[in-house]
Amino acid sequence: MPTMIVTGAASGLGKCIAEHAARAGYKVGVLDLRLEQAQLVAESIGGMALQADVTDLPSVERAFDDFGETPDVLVNNAGILRTGPLLDHSPEDFRRVLDVNLTSVFLVAQIAARRMKNAGGGCIINMSSINGINPSTQCGAYATAKAGVIALSKQMSMEWGVYNIRVNTIAPGFIDAGMQAPFFENPDVRDLRSSAVPLKRLGSADDVADCALFLASDKAKYISGENITVDGGVINSVLMQLPRS
Ligand SMILES: NC(=O)c1ccc[n+]([C@@H]2O[C@H](COP(=O)([O-])OP(=O)(O)OC[C@H]3O[C@@H](n4cnc5c(N)ncnc54)[C@H](O)[C@@H]3O)[C@@H](O)[C@H]2O)c1
Repeated sequence: MPTMIVTGAASGLGKCIAEHAARAGYKVGVLDLRLEQAQLVAESIGGMALQADVTDLPSVERAFDDFGETPDVLVNNAGILRTGPLLDHSPEDFRRVLDVNLTSVFLVAQIAARRMKNAGGGCIINMSSINGINPSTQCGAYATAKAGVIALSKQMSMEWGVYNIRVNTIAPGFIDAGMQAPFFENPDVRDLRSSAVPLKRLGSADDVADCALFLASDKAKYISGENITVDGGVINSVLMQLPRS
């Protein structure tokens, strides 16, 4: 039975990835800060709830030990968003966003990769964002962290390929789930954002989970160091929004 640990799997995209993985036959570790919610997800998919703070090394080590085996796949998905213009961002907020979204990717992936190396290989998928490719309003700290996730993942893929560990990132766009769901409850925001997407709709958690399961699978066995945007094409559309005359 293949095995996968998904961080931040108590809700949103992580929960959906965990559900897809369980359906695909994985034993899934549902890792989250929030144990009760993780337990609910784990119970519903027949997985194992693991409590850890991804910024806290000992708690993550314990969670991996509790899982009982080296995961074939790690999905570093846990993340937080703090919005605001850079002029108003407090140093504490900036550091916290970098800690949870970027430093944690290093910490958790290192723990996984050391074990995967001994086990003969593995696959790591790190969650970035289209904000890690292009800046957007009020997302300075978040965009910085998510850009770092792409750079860090490429570095990991270079250093760990020799151990048969593939490392890739996913950069979701306007996804109607998780941390962005409240934002899209406003019908005006929804219409504006949907119409800016070349595919003319918001993305779903399933769209992101499908990509994660593809990257985890043997179909992607020769893909490493890649970033896949799951955004309906929106990141490429800036110049198309401007009329020629
Ligand atoms: N929803 C979107 O539109 C969107 C778009 C681009 C990227 N993303 C990224 O996708 C990932 C998942 O986001 P989501 O939208 O599902 O949000 P979410 O808030 O629903 O899920 C995040 C999960 O991470 C957990 N978490 C937060 N801090 C943690 C910590 N220190 N240790 C362990 N777990 C922690 C939370 O408890 C929560 O369950 C994030 O990395 C986010 O940046 C989301």
